[in-house]
Amino acid sequence: MRNIIQTLFLVTALGLGSTLTAQADEFTKEDLDIWQKEFMAVVAVGRTAFTDPNLGTNGVVCAQCHPNGANTHPETYPKFQKQIGRVITLPEMINWCIRNPLEGKPMALDDPKMVAMQAYITHERRNVKLAPGKH
Ligand code: HEC
Repeated sequence: MRNIIQTLFLVTALGLGSTLTAQADEFTKEDLDIWQKEFMAVVAVGRTAFTDPNLGTNGVVCAQCHPNGANTHPETYPKFQKQIGRVITLPEMINWCIRNPLEGKPMALDDPKMVAMQAYITHERRNVKLAPGKH
């Protein structure tokens, strides 16, 4: 009797386990296409933000100093930034540029526009090797 209960328990546990794994891994080619499209739509929002004069207050835009996301080096983050005096993430550096050259109000780190600018500049550098901390 005890053996039967143990066996039943094992069978149930194994069954549950494999169902959970299957759910976690299950996605189709259609899902991948949808997710890639979503990502590229967010990249496009980021590209637009780079020429948006409303990010700051003085009419200056990101693309004036970073055309096509140039010289943003997202692959080097997190890294020590002397302007801030500690190791920071990429969005903190974006906020530094919003506050200083653009004289604007820093964005929440999860602001959709902040996420979009990161998507844009990291996508521009998609084949560059990660080099965290590098100057
Ligand atoms: C007037 C010129 C200017 C404008 C406009 C400007 N930046 Fe910058 N940006 C700089 C300078 C100068 C640095 C500092 C370079 C350093 O110390 O690494 C910098 C650094 C950066 C870095 C880090 C680069 C690195 O190598 O670590 C990022 C990311 C960045 N800017 C994003 C932006 C974004 C996004 C905007 C628009 C919101 C913007 N910048 C607007 C001049 C500008």
